[in-house]
Amino acid sequence: MTDNPDVKLTSPDIERDASFALGWFTQDAGRDTLLSMGNAPHKIQEPTLESEQATLREFIDLERDGIQKTWMIRCGDVTIGATWIDLVENHGVDSPSVHLMIGEPSFRGQGIGGAVMRTMLNYLSESGVRTVYSRHLTSNKAVARLNQEIGFENDGEPYVDED
Ligand SMILES: CC(C)(COP(=O)(O)OP(=O)(O)OC[C@H]1O[C@@H](n2cnc3c(N)ncnc32)[C@H](O)[C@@H]1OP(=O)(O)O)[C@@H](O)C(=O)NCCC(=O)NCCS
Repeated sequence: MTDNPDVKLTSPDIERDASFALGWFTQDAGRDTLLSMGNAPHKIQEPTLESEQATLREFIDLERDGIQKTWMIRCGDVTIGATWIDLVENHGVDSPSVHLMIGEPSFRGQGIGGAVMRTMLNYLSESGVRTVYSRHLTSNKAVARLNQEIGFENDGEPYVDED
């Protein structure tokens, strides 16, 4: 449960969620969503149902291996995004780190991202975690604002990597 009664977090379900994920990335805004998450333009491939199924399968496998924990964000009968915790250091980001994507643009700007992030931080806090990490592109004003409001502080300087 989140503090928004309409927004729930559930385990990934390949059957249920792959077609929603395909919808997020095949619409006009889909490429921008991937870019805003820090995917390098030359690494973005045309999404297919099979590629989305494979991504969900990877989420499930990473959870089984204790590397990542993933929840799908559900609003009513619609899967609108995903949130995950990296349980191990990932590409220079210390663990645990939290990641968030409202894949369906029409659900953005309604406080859902904030509700999900608060839920994730409460979950980690209840598990005894005192420091949580997150990384975002400096150009991503939405998540920069959200994270700052919720209490994240800058740790180190902005940087440019090979992508
Ligand atoms: C970033 C994201 C998670 C924010 O979720 P959201 O549900 O749209 O955000 P909320 O409605 O909870 O808004 C939280 C705060 O961010 C601000 N915000 C939201 N969209 C914004 C935008 N486009 N520009 C500037 N600020 C924005 C809101 O104003 C709000 O601050 P406020 O309470 O002072 O008004 C969502 O837009 C998203 O998933 N985007 C695409 C993927 C992505 O960028 N993920 C993060 C990668 S690190």
